[in-house]
Amino acid sequence: MRSALRQELDKIKTGGLYRSLREVSSPQGREIVLDGNRVLNFCSNDYLGLSADPRLLAAAQQSLAQRGFGSGSARLVCGNSDEQVLLEKELARFKKTEAALVFSSGYMANVGILSALCGREDVIFSDKLNHASIVDGCVLSRAELWRYPHRDIIALEGLLAKASGFRRKLIVTDTVFSMDGDIAPLKDLVRLAKEYDAWLMVDEAHAFGIFGPTGGGRVEEEGLGQDVPIQMGTLSKAAGSYGAYVAGSEELIDLLINTARSFIFTTALPPAVAAASRTALRIIQEEPERRERLRRNADRLRRELQRLGFDTLESVSPIIPVVVGEAEAAVDLSRRLLERGIFVSAVRPPTVPQGSARLRVTVTAAHTEDDITRCVEAFAGVLNGRKA
Ligand SMILES: Cc1ncc(COP(=O)(O)O)c(C=O)c1O
Repeated sequence: MRSALRQELDKIKTGGLYRSLREVSSPQGREIVLDGNRVLNFCSNDYLGLSADPRLLAAAQQSLAQRGFGSGSARLVCGNSDEQVLLEKELARFKKTEAALVFSSGYMANVGILSALCGREDVIFSDKLNHASIVDGCVLSRAELWRYPHRDIIALEGLLAKASGFRRKLIVTDTVFSMDGDIAPLKDLVRLAKEYDAWLMVDEAHAFGIFGPTGGGRVEEEGLGQDVPIQMGTLSKAAGSYGAYVAGSEELIDLLINTARSFIFTTALPPAVAAASRTALRIIQEEPERRERLRRNADRLRRELQRLGFDTLESVSPIIPVVVGEAEAAVDLSRRLLERGIFVSAVRPPTVPQGSARLRVTVTAAHTEDDITRCVEAFAGVLNGRKA
């Protein structure tokens, strides 16, 4: 067995696709200690800089003192802490939906929702660049999976027009794409869903807390709350916490409680995590200046990277891809930046399509003007072949 495993690893290595873990020994933030070295962090999803916010820590600590650490069992057994129930009520109020349900992670939410709502008699239309958890949820559902070219409304309409004889049609999309940082054409998707009698599910993982006047996401920004029946998002990115939610009708939530296997057959989140998420939700609403700072930082970094000649695709979010093409080139660029104290990890196939390996640069509200200057200078230094 060992030699078979080694052979497989060797194959991964020769393609430049080998991944290994690095060790972080500091809190998350604009600066972290990575493998023992202090570096500026430009690859975190902690977009609003909340993961080490003292208010989240205090909420978690208070919950730890009152509720202990582990949750004991699944939600449907004895693990349904009042912290989770309150979090769900607050999320539903925030999202202006009848109800919400918390899952233990975004991955589990997508896998659970899609496999609960769709089966062999159904068809799912999924953007080609949707997150892996959506793809896995589609596969697990056993529904027919019709993937449409990225953000291509005309192609999607062609597929919808062809689909007949299915019990149920469901369109699913990231609202902000996790590796390209561009956005889904939500208004058109809503229109098509209505026209072709399809259900619409959105994944707001990279939009929740960031887009919309109160941080409700891209759906809020476009004023489409009433038109998107299945709204999923994570608490692990802008909220600086962990876990995920789906917001929608009472019937949707009730059905998921009864049928979503990744909800039913897993231990509930520790109550302290839910407590920290509730605090994050309050901060997201009360401190819009974080969103404003994030937008300014993202606009500046994107502009300056473009000025250096990098291809940043159609990014309009804090996710700024720097596409270099081959996997080895992306790894090399990442290594050279790290030599200059800037940490940006390389993203390679299968996470992104072949030939589009990149650095996935992300910026947060916590970065200072000086941090961004240092990041741009490091990219320029690598480009000009200067020694670190
Ligand atoms: C679009 C999208 N959906 C879902 C997830 C999974 O969320 P989580 O990290 O909470 O499991 C991610 C995380 O990378 C994501 O980018």
